[in-house]
Amino acid sequence: MTDSILHKIVALRKELDQHNFLYYVKAQPVITDIEFDQKLKELEALEKAHPEFDDPMSPTKRVGSDITSEFQQVKHQYPVLSLNNTYNEGELRDFDTRIKKETNLQPEYVCELKFDGVSISLTYEKGILKHAVTRGDGVQGDDVTNNVKTIRSIPLKLQGSGWPDEFEIRGELVMPFAVFQKINEERAANGEELLANPRNSTSGTIKMQDSSVVAKRQLDGYFYYVPGEIRLSDSHLKNLELAASWGFKVSEHTRKCGSMEEVLAFIHHWDKERSKLPVATDGVVIKVDSIAMQNDLGTTAKSPRWAVAYKFKAEQVETRLLSVSYQVGRTGAITPVANLEPVLLAGTTVKRASLHNADIIAALDLHLNDLVKVEKGGEIIPKIVGVNEAERHPLNQRVEFITHCPECGSTLVRDEGEAKHFCPNETGCPPQIKGKIIHFISRKAMNIDGMGEETVELFYNQGLIRTVADLYRMEEASIAGLDRLGEKSARRMLDGLEASKKVPFERVLFALGIRYVGETVAKLLAKAFKNMDALMEATFEQLTNVNEIGDRIAESLINHFSLEANCALIADLHNIGLQFQLSEEEMAGSTDKLAGLSIIISGTFEKHSREELKKMIEQHGGKNVGSISKNTSYLLAGENIGPSKMEKVQKLGIPIISEDEFMTMIG
Ligand code: IVH
Repeated sequence: MTDSILHKIVALRKELDQHNFLYYVKAQPVITDIEFDQKLKELEALEKAHPEFDDPMSPTKRVGSDITSEFQQVKHQYPVLSLNNTYNEGELRDFDTRIKKETNLQPEYVCELKFDGVSISLTYEKGILKHAVTRGDGVQGDDVTNNVKTIRSIPLKLQGSGWPDEFEIRGELVMPFAVFQKINEERAANGEELLANPRNSTSGTIKMQDSSVVAKRQLDGYFYYVPGEIRLSDSHLKNLELAASWGFKVSEHTRKCGSMEEVLAFIHHWDKERSKLPVATDGVVIKVDSIAMQNDLGTTAKSPRWAVAYKFKAEQVETRLLSVSYQVGRTGAITPVANLEPVLLAGTTVKRASLHNADIIAALDLHLNDLVKVEKGGEIIPKIVGVNEAERHPLNQRVEFITHCPECGSTLVRDEGEAKHFCPNETGCPPQIKGKIIHFISRKAMNIDGMGEETVELFYNQGLIRTVADLYRMEEASIAGLDRLGEKSARRMLDGLEASKKVPFERVLFALGIRYVGETVAKLLAKAFKNMDALMEATFEQLTNVNEIGDRIAESLINHFSLEANCALIADLHNIGLQFQLSEEEMAGSTDKLAGLSIIISGTFEKHSREELKKMIEQHGGKNVGSISKNTSYLLAGENIGPSKMEKVQKLGIPIISEDEFMTMIG
């Protein structure tokens, strides 16, 4: 019986691996997503019922786990080199001349796209993925294996045959534009700061502590180099073809070129066409194909002498600055925006560019009607990088930053050390009021079903709402029948509002939109003060005594609660029935016995899972940290702790406690 179950499990794993490959590497799925999910669920159920057949390489493991990954530093077997960059064709020809001179041979080149992401080094032992390590300083990097395992296009097990027992391959992790855009749309809706570009987002994602979040971010990886002494074949291109046959994603836009003319044609083609690719690229890498020639040419301390990167120039155009307008955000931050004469840039028409803040405008010495140079930063958000001063008409007027809010007329303020100007009229400035309400209803805050930005806009314009408390006083009769709103949607909203009365205190606190009080800070505050009254009465000292609450946050809270309108709103919401204290459940058993202590968990434990221990640390007011530093208070040690970690702890003199000692500490 169990034999046949094992067979079934193994067969399902194999089948799902193959579908993953067809979908994520080949982009040629042969079954529907629903069919795939059904099979995956079936496998999950079988694995759950038969933990004895567990396999860390199972496709079910791609969803990640929330076990904190403490990134160990791993030394690279072969140092990770970088590439020499060139920006013009002359330098490329020099490269070609040097290669010919040094080898006395006519080289063949392989041209590849240069992916703009984060480089990664994978090692496989007997065909099984063992380590995924970031570039780090080139000598050693972070072991991010758990996170990389969630990337569906990366094989956990190699396919085919012929791979060496010990095998390393290098490539680039990237976040597709579509994923990047989706994340930013979500962040915008939640009033969160936007991610700058796909590369930064990739590097932020791969260093995340929680691999289940990484799994949701849908990274991808392209592989381009097999380092080391083992000779797979005599040609770089053949190496890549072998890697592709073992299941790696190798860019299909890789070409062998017999001459510099062909190389240049490849470059010109992709300089134009790259905007159509699903991921960011910033150049073309040109490599000598023959491995024998590569070995002859060798490397410098920094980079191989058989390869060079041609970097694309960020596409730039000139257009006229028509005017500058100023947007007021939810927090009152003022963002200047340049309105431009529409112009085509990297495939899209650009009409506006962000100017960020007053310093940027001053640094550009911007004048109205100037001819400005516009570039796409990270290919996404256009920015003004310079002014054509020779073309400036002497009567053009300098752009002066506004002194008053364009929406409500209040005098703007700029705090010391802040790049941005702010409108201080929190409770009377329309975009701030609307922005606060939009934040309040957003998914991570009160998560009000059936409401969105447009409905808030509509209700505000109809004069139905001025504060978030007004939301709870709306009636079906007054909202149904409004522009595009049927009875059903009205009902759904009101039900959503009613349900939100159960949203826990920490999220209500986050939903209030107090400056610098994001999700994490709200959680810390809720835990430390337990209810709103205590938080509102807290002194500056009491606030900053809470771990991770600094002066800036404390000041912002005190400032917020010093305004009568804010206190009145909180009282109003309290009467409406929102949660302004921790639930009984959250209160039960929580103490501050570990207040101020940073504890690192390492190894495996007998009585509790690491997740349980982490919860206990937090419940008792301590902080669970991911990496060892001189500020770590204790190492909570289980079995099998890595020797390098032990050494570090001992060197820093950090006390080590066992699971039992920990339990005594928290009583
Ligand atoms: S080859 C020894 N090929 O660019 C050869 N690198 O500045 C090592 N990159 O660290 C690199 N696309 O992160 C190579 N097709 C490609 C690449 C590529 C992107 C990145 C990689 C490397 C950096 C070099």
